[in-house]
Amino acid sequence: MIYMDNAATSFPKPEEVYKAIDHFNRNLGGSPGRGSHRATLRAGAIMLECRELLARLFNISDAAQIAFTANITDAINIGLKGILKPGDHVITSSMEHNAVARPLYALSQQGVEWTPVPCAADGSLNPDHITPLIKPNTRMICMLHASNLTGTILPIEEVGRIARRHGLIFMIDSAQTAGVVPIDVQDANIDILTFTGHKGLLGPQGTGGIYVDPRVELRLLKEGGTGSASELLEQPAVMPDRLESGTPNTPGIAGLAAGIAFIFKTGMENIRRHELELTDILIRELRNIPGLTVYGPGDARRMTAVVSFNINGLDCGEISLRLDQEYGIITRSGMHCAPLAHQTIGTAATGACRISPGCFTGSSDIHTVVEAIRQIASS
Ligand code: ALA
Repeated sequence: MIYMDNAATSFPKPEEVYKAIDHFNRNLGGSPGRGSHRATLRAGAIMLECRELLARLFNISDAAQIAFTANITDAINIGLKGILKPGDHVITSSMEHNAVARPLYALSQQGVEWTPVPCAADGSLNPDHITPLIKPNTRMICMLHASNLTGTILPIEEVGRIARRHGLIFMIDSAQTAGVVPIDVQDANIDILTFTGHKGLLGPQGTGGIYVDPRVELRLLKEGGTGSASELLEQPAVMPDRLESGTPNTPGIAGLAAGIAFIFKTGMENIRRHELELTDILIRELRNIPGLTVYGPGDARRMTAVVSFNINGLDCGEISLRLDQEYGIITRSGMHCAPLAHQTIGTAATGACRISPGCFTGSSDIHTVVEAIRQIASS
């Protein structure tokens, strides 16, 4: 199998990740923060280690402001629904994934105003288009860092400055960039950073989280046992307990810590350089194949390792199926849970086929993929 669906979930994981999960499940056990025996203390130390690795990665000054969630969709729901109330206005890009678009659609049914800023057909966003949309009731700008359809990286530093200048909460969906593209919450004025553990951070599925700037107050979507201040019926005010009710996915978080440690050991800039080289080859080679339309900016430096395309006259689902069945190549076709992004790039009616290499993809895999697509296009 040649796995080219890292934008959905990275595979394989570093060996250390498998080992950390297995070691926790087999040898450690324990529910963090529950009691004072050795198993709970070891589990708590794993949570702390992972939080500190994340804080280092995102330049967060207080790791306790990071709460773990089941995935990034949970984190995004916590951020959007914790801030926005009827009458508030929120600005997003027009490339958002349904993880942002569906909660906002639901909130808009309850009186929240939502303006998606139109992006260009290559997925790029001009930050100058944001300021004229800001109104007295605008409360938040929320956007993805990079599109899961075109890989286009959005200018979060510029948008963060606009948000700060206007006193707006700035929230980022980093599903496609965390672990691959640098994110500095202080430089980019990010008030709420949501992340997933199972893509670029190389951890297992079922991990993710949210960083909340201490100045931001969130309404809670969930209360429950935290292992702290248990004599009180009121949810603890202190982070991360405030957002972390219920036993966490500690084995998953052990794996996530190992994934982030691998990134530090390898060097995120080396992973990025490798993925950039692969993406560059893909774009150049695919663009030479007659009958192919390749979407996105066409410049790997402005993208993550995500290349979507269509072949004239062929259904994208059929392309993906043939790549799998005839060549053993795994891609994702269809709408990618991102109908707004498909509308933006003009593929709402057709969908597209997406190739997303990862840090363990070799350049020979890319050549095999290009050759397979060439054969399908000419057949
Ligand atoms: N959002 C993920 C994807 O793009 C699941 O495939």
